[in-house]
Amino acid sequence: MFRVGFADAFSKGALLLLLTIVVASCYRDYFLDTRDPYKCDALLNQGQWLESPDNKPYTKWQPSGCMFHQYSAPEIAECSQDGDITIVGDSTVRQIFWALARKIEDDEGWVEEERNKPDNHGDLEYSKGGVHLKFIWDPWLNSTAMFRELTLLEGGVVNETIVNDNVPSNGSYLETGPRRPVTMLIGGGLWYARHMENTSIEAYSQSIDRISLAHDFSDLRTLPQSTEGVGPQVFIAPVIEPLYYMLSPARQSTITPEKISAMNEYLGLLSRAGLNVVWSYAKMMKDQPAAYSMSGLHVMDPVATRMTDVLLNLRCNGKATQHLTYPVNKTCCSSYSSPRWLYFIPTFTLLARLGSIVLSKSRHSALSDSGKGSLQGVTIAIRDLLVVLFFCVLADRTHTLDKIPGVYSTLDYRILLGTITLACLFTIYREPSSPPDSQERRLSEFSGGPRTEHQFLPRIQGDEIRGFMQIFILIYGFLGASDVLDLYELFRVCFAMYLFLLGYGHTMYFLQKRDFSFDRVAIVLVRMNLLAVCLSFVMSRPYLSYYWAPLVSFWFFVVYVTMRVVHYRNDSVAFLVAKIFVSALAVTVVVYVKGPLHLVWLMLKVFFRTDFVIDDWRGHVGTETYIVFVGMLAAVIAFQIVGMFETPPAQRSLSVEVLVDCFDTFRRLFVFCALIIGPLFWITAQSHTKKKDYDWFMPFLSWMPVVSIVILRNSLQFLRTRHCRAFAWVGRMSLELHLLSQHIFLAADGHGTLSLGLGGEKLTVLMGRWKELVLLAPILVWCAWKVSKGTKVLTASITGHAGDEKGNSQARSADHDNELPIPSTQGAMRQDGISSKLRSKRTLIVLMLAIWVAKLCT
Ligand SMILES: *[C@@H]1O[C@H](CO)[C@@H](O)[C@H](O)[C@H]1NC(C)=O
Ligand SMILES: *[C@@H]1O[C@H](CO)[C@@H](O)[C@H](O)[C@H]1NC(C)=O
Ligand SMILES: *[C@@H]1O[C@H](CO)[C@@H](O)[C@H](O)[C@H]1NC(C)=O
Ligand SMILES: *[C@@H]1O[C@H](CO)[C@@H](O)[C@H](O)[C@H]1NC(C)=O
Ligand SMILES: *[C@@H]1O[C@H](CO)[C@@H](O)[C@H](O)[C@H]1NC(C)=O
Repeated sequence: MFRVGFADAFSKGALLLLLTIVVASCYRDYFLDTRDPYKCDALLNQGQWLESPDNKPYTKWQPSGCMFHQYSAPEIAECSQDGDITIVGDSTVRQIFWALARKIEDDEGWVEEERNKPDNHGDLEYSKGGVHLKFIWDPWLNSTAMFRELTLLEGGVVNETIVNDNVPSNGSYLETGPRRPVTMLIGGGLWYARHMENTSIEAYSQSIDRISLAHDFSDLRTLPQSTEGVGPQVFIAPVIEPLYYMLSPARQSTITPEKISAMNEYLGLLSRAGLNVVWSYAKMMKDQPAAYSMSGLHVMDPVATRMTDVLLNLRCNGKATQHLTYPVNKTCCSSYSSPRWLYFIPTFTLLARLGSIVLSKSRHSALSDSGKGSLQGVTIAIRDLLVVLFFCVLADRTHTLDKIPGVYSTLDYRILLGTITLACLFTIYREPSSPPDSQERRLSEFSGGPRTEHQFLPRIQGDEIRGFMQIFILIYGFLGASDVLDLYELFRVCFAMYLFLLGYGHTMYFLQKRDFSFDRVAIVLVRMNLLAVCLSFVMSRPYLSYYWAPLVSFWFFVVYVTMRVVHYRNDSVAFLVAKIFVSALAVTVVVYVKGPLHLVWLMLKVFFRTDFVIDDWRGHVGTETYIVFVGMLAAVIAFQIVGMFETPPAQRSLSVEVLVDCFDTFRRLFVFCALIIGPLFWITAQSHTKKKDYDWFMPFLSWMPVVSIVILRNSLQFLRTRHCRAFAWVGRMSLELHLLSQHIFLAADGHGTLSLGLGGEKLTVLMGRWKELVLLAPILVWCAWKVSKGTKVLTASITGHAGDEKGNSQARSADHDNELPIPSTQGAMRQDGISSKLRSKRTLIVLMLAIWVAKLCT
């Protein structure tokens, strides 16, 4: 597709860009950012609200440069285990306690009930689902109960007789003694301002001094690496500035800005000396009058919820990351488990490079020229793969590059999609058309001649559609648009389209080539899974969590089995269609009935040592259960029509004759139907406003837009003869793009996006991040391109087709997860088979064993 010069320049440029980014980021990470290697500071001190007007206010808080997680009840239980989460302070801090309690309560309304009690200056305790919350009412920050908790948190022993007098509640004692707090938040100050005239600041300072004497505040910079994350910590809430004009007159006269800022200044002084003050709370409230309740003192519930999340992220992220391997998407105040592969990869790369140099120099080598060439190709492929894997680890398993969530804005989305479409328009080319010889043309209309002009859904169109979809999915991910229903709908249509093309392509291949050999299966499966398996090792992420590769393999397997069973009767259309229906039924049973999938799960667990959540997987296969079969049916029909036209007129039966004669009418009818069902689908989709409804009907309706688009794309000669080079090029490496984008474009295992910090505070594309996009997108494309070339070479060599002409063409024809047929006049079965087949089987078995053993070791 690309002219050699351009491809070369692109390759060099992208490599240079990649090196520059790696060097610059490492420099920043190791020399400039030494103050905050684990992004704890970012969580503690900085952040901004990510609100676009169409979002509900105060639902998204974003510390700078890391992924903030909104904790749920089970995750809190996991984090706190048997300890208390203790909040100490006045009614402003109690808001945070309420928010925590709301996170863990079901709908029994405990919070509402307690909140509305008239005299509520008291301690509170609440336990639910393994989470224990404690609130100690202590507006002066000097109570015995608080100091007792501090002692417990330090691991000290408390005098039970004293304790019993001071703790009114019964719940806190187990047989094993008092529970220890796993984290404490202490905050107050307004009472000093309100009830003390001239001495408020001194008194407040003294209280804080006493706390900092009682607890040895540790430096968060070094902590997240331990298995407990930052461990039990005490955090001090700053004095939240009230909305002065909202205060009652009595409060207004005593709670003055001077007092509040003096208190915070004192906290600032201590926090520079090591006190852990959660300044982001103050940042959340700065210039946000809508975040205050009517009293002007308290924060609104959603804001309080985000405040609890800050506390939980501080305390729990490090721990969660140490215990969970996937997804690694809580990157604030956490350390990645040591990237052991990181240091090996450059070494391997160097070795591979040396190897290739030695090979190219050794003229007297015993290898034949072609053998040498293929060996060199393999070393180059391995080198490229290693470079890309290295970058993946560096990007997504170290703190070298920032990860932030995608920020959606409609304008960004339109501009990005517009730019991409424009890029496509510039690369459209037209196939020179043949003379309009009508009978001739119609004859070859569907026959798989080399010219795509006359085929239904030729390969290049499939590539093109896949390319567009992949680009759309990347934009969708980069903008974090999954909450936007319209885009979600489009995303689902793309997904369905992809599977349709998969069913169509494989079925067409099997119909045309009748090649059901082991080699074919091996080539396709290796080609689809090589990168995913490598990534899953290097990134220590379960293979099945790269849903795309296993899903595509699964469907290939289904198509293969469907076509393979009694394949000598595939000529009968009725039989084929019946087989497809039976297959659809079988897949439905496997997916929706409990037993079979469990069996598969057990087998995978034993044989491949891979673990997956069955319901999750059921969800993924279940999202589009039937569209693959629609694709298969489409292929069967298209293939039959080709057959009809190819039959010499003399041998046609009457019905075929009639069909051929009326073909134009049929075509018009199809186009007419397509024109109707496309819009019909959009109307149906638009009438639903919940993602859930949509998920429910999509498996049954997704064929409508897909079939409509495919028919319309092929309706006119004008459309059939025009192709978009850029999209087709991207489409040919869509699987690699998707897998790699999880780590080096999107990041945090696909939950966020990579950031170079060039956008500053502005997180929308148009305002700031376009610079990052311009740098990151070419690198992603380069990596995918290199890897996709490399995988082809490696697949050929693994399956034992290196160097042999046919094998290469087979490997090339398998160069997608889902290739459309290459028109070919070659015979179906390979003749030279036996020895090569044995070899390929042996290689594969060795490879599988190696993977199994490697899994055992990791
Ligand atoms: C991280 O991944 C989990 C599990 O998929 C998900 O529930 C959570 O929302 C993700 N968090 C972020 C910040 O994306
Ligand atoms: C805490 O300080 C307040 C105000 O100075 C005082 O009234 C109260 O008695 C103190 N409480 C304890 C337990 O020391
Ligand atoms: C606990 O406190 C009580 C009352 O102050 C005292 O009599 C007792 O000796 C103390 N016990 C211990 C173990 O320190
Ligand atoms: C707490 O204990 C006291 C006496 O031991 C008992 O009267 C009271 O009912 C208990 N309260 C709760 C909430 O269990
Ligand atoms: C507080 O200071 C002001 C001015 O210095 C003084 O007039 C007032 O009496 C003081 N109040 C108390 C309670 O000490």
